[in-house]
Amino acid sequence: MGYFSKFLGISAALLMLSATVVGAEEKDPLKARVPADQMADAKAMKNPIASSPESIAKGKALFEGKGTCFNCHGKDGNGQGEAGKVLNPSPRDFTNCKFHKKRKDGELFWVIKNGSAGTGMISLTPAIITEEEAWMIINYERTFCKAE
Ligand code: HEC
Repeated sequence: MGYFSKFLGISAALLMLSATVVGAEEKDPLKARVPADQMADAKAMKNPIASSPESIAKGKALFEGKGTCFNCHGKDGNGQGEAGKVLNPSPRDFTNCKFHKKRKDGELFWVIKNGSAGTGMISLTPAIITEEEAWMIINYERTFCKAE
């Protein structure tokens, strides 16, 4: 085996290693997930739970508990939860303020209810959390954006 092919072998091994360590990436977080024919209805949905310190606290407890969201999205909301690390595409990074600006509450709700096709984000309402609980978690998820 020549020096060059040995070098190629080592490079390939390193590439595979870095892919394992760094993990997958998010699929474009600014691209809509709701299908076009349901978008108007999704955007028109209003969050029935006002964003208050109380509903945010309830949303946090659900995010970190019953809702199981933290497993994938991480306690810090950055998409680096233990179960999320092996997913491709990666879970949404909720610290991304551009993402929040782009999405209406109703679009987030639609994904919690219907899942995001072809990803680890499966339908969680009503199986895991009620609709009311989903809205409270949305209020909490919004708080991960600190800047802007
Ligand atoms: C098994 C892992 C997993 C769990 C548990 C999970 N998610 Fe996700 N979530 C994902 C992945 C992966 C994506 C990225 C999907 C994509 O790129 O389309 C995502 C994306 C999202 C999005 C972004 C949708 C959009 O419009 O781009 C929202 C909102 C969301 N999750 C909310 C939740 C909530 C709320 C919970 C808990 C009730 C939760 N997720 C639990 C894996 C998970």
